[in-house]
Amino acid sequence: MTSRVESTAIDGPMLKDLNILLGVTGGIAAYKAVDLAGKLTAAGAHVQTVMTKSACRFVGPKSFETITCAPVFTSLWNDPEGRKSSHIALAEWADVVVVAPASADMIGKMANGICDDLLSTTLCTSWSCRMLFAPAMNTRMWENPAVQQNVATLREMGVQMIGPAAGRLACGAEGVGRMAEPQEILATIEAIGSELIRGKIEKDG
Ligand SMILES: Cc1cc2nc3c(=O)[nH]c(=O)nc-3n(C[C@H](O)[C@H](O)[C@H](O)COP(=O)(O)O)c2cc1C
Repeated sequence: MTSRVESTAIDGPMLKDLNILLGVTGGIAAYKAVDLAGKLTAAGAHVQTVMTKSACRFVGPKSFETITCAPVFTSLWNDPEGRKSSHIALAEWADVVVVAPASADMIGKMANGICDDLLSTTLCTSWSCRMLFAPAMNTRMWENPAVQQNVATLREMGVQMIGPAAGRLACGAEGVGRMAEPQEILATIEAIGSELIRGKIEKDG
């Protein structure tokens, strides 16, 4: 299956045939990631989902499996497609890596090169890919200097951030920490896809 970027097709819906690796981490906003996965799939993108153990406590893998029509990856040691190293295969496959919601924990792991589960290991493997993180957490967590330092490190590495937005949080408090809305994330992925295709066309002459 040729990815959208490889085919350099600039006409038509930009998300069609774009390979998107969706990382889902453990926060209340994980339910919004189901909506994002559905919108991406409906737009013609190929979505492969990697969920952390904590994410699976908020939303079942079956929701993503059903909505993306693709197996969901939850373990470094058990690849539903029977490959030896899913973290490498997933990183090679992806045109764009999206982590939504991105927990404080996963932001910290990625910023510090920690690889202790499938998602963190896949992110470490795909560091040179286009990456979009949509952080979501309580305002106190977001404002923690260590979290802010990790976010700055990711930005320096070229990771794009979307949100978090201000508003009512799941814990009932008001503040910065809400995950960006799926529609907004989708529009940003579309823009990234367009940049990737134009970059490939320029490179290939
Ligand atoms: C009810 C509940 C809600 C949580 N919400 C968030 C959240 O929105 N953002 C966050 O960074 N961590 C949140 N956490 C903490 C994470 O689940 C925890 O740090 C976990 O280790 C993250 O694992 P992961 O990064 O592997 O998904 C929450 C925990 C609980 C129990």
